[in-house]
Amino acid sequence: MQNRNFDYLRPAVNLIPEDIRPNAEVYMDYMKYAFLENPSLKTWKNYIFQPGFEPETAQFAYNQWEPRDNDVIVATFPKAGTTWTRELLRQIIYLNDEENLKKSKAMNYFFSYLEFGPVSKYQVMDNIPLPRRVLGTHLPSQLINFEKLKLKGTKIIYVTRNPKSQAVSWYPFARADYFMHKEFFQKRYPEDEKAFLDMYINGQQSMCAKEGEGYLEHIRSWYQHKDDENVLFLCFEEMKKDVTKQVRRLADFIDVSLSDDDVKKVCQNSSLGKMKKSWDTPDMPPTFFFRKGQVGDWKNHLTVAQSEKIDANVERVLGDTDIKFIYELEQ
Ligand code: A3P
Repeated sequence: MQNRNFDYLRPAVNLIPEDIRPNAEVYMDYMKYAFLENPSLKTWKNYIFQPGFEPETAQFAYNQWEPRDNDVIVATFPKAGTTWTRELLRQIIYLNDEENLKKSKAMNYFFSYLEFGPVSKYQVMDNIPLPRRVLGTHLPSQLINFEKLKLKGTKIIYVTRNPKSQAVSWYPFARADYFMHKEFFQKRYPEDEKAFLDMYINGQQSMCAKEGEGYLEHIRSWYQHKDDENVLFLCFEEMKKDVTKQVRRLADFIDVSLSDDDVKKVCQNSSLGKMKKSWDTPDMPPTFFFRKGQVGDWKNHLTVAQSEKIDANVERVLGDTDIKFIYELEQ
């Protein structure tokens, strides 16, 4: 069993006023149980939830949770650029407000993902004294109460990344996850990179998708909302090409006015090097979330057959849309 105590959950809990502060141990015990002692796959409407992702919590978010009109939700499939986008948003919102920036960072994965952890964690999520929250979800749009968010005016940013880079990025992350000591997951996420990617590309490791499906179906589910007024589509490769331009789009979309100098600072503070350096969650080393951050690195990892299989999948699942992935950038 891995030696992880999930201490990084404490800072968010400590921000809650004392008289209503829940006991952080409850969440730490949840993590130990869900990841180390009894990791399992769960489902809701046939969509598979990996350990930590709870159908009950997703249902709570759908049916009972009250979003705020100024909430911002980053919706992604894992490894599409989630962490970068979340940091850009936090920097945009709290650029000159160090205290709230810190609080916002304390609202880490556990306390910001709509479907992650036990329902009781909403006691923390909904009570952190913070003017504006940057939330997240890995759910497909079918499991999100879109009407509720739209009525409220809650803004959603969906990030796409080319599926070859996404697959390559997924391999070390999935293999390092807390539940990998269990035989079931060792088989589902093989150690050998080629075997791992073969299974993944064939839809045999579904995450936030149905068995046999995956990232492309996730994009398709969200793409139907691309023209909704409370939705903005971003693209990882466009961010790599010209982050300044994408920061301006983000700031405009969430109604934050930034000077040219501010935009520059946001980009600098959210660079890969800076984010790696300032990462302070010892339980989850920076290598979990930051690798090369490049566009064409998939060529060093995928076989020609795997690359062609992804091309065929793209044609099959997204062929009738106008989505054109960017697989390399000119130097
Ligand atoms: P690589 O594994 O290709 O390096 P997510 O946050 O959705 O898990 O996505 C992780 C990917 O985003 C990783 O890609 C990671 O290196 C990259 N990434 C994270 N922060 C970044 C940043 N500031 N600039 C560029 N890429 C970044």
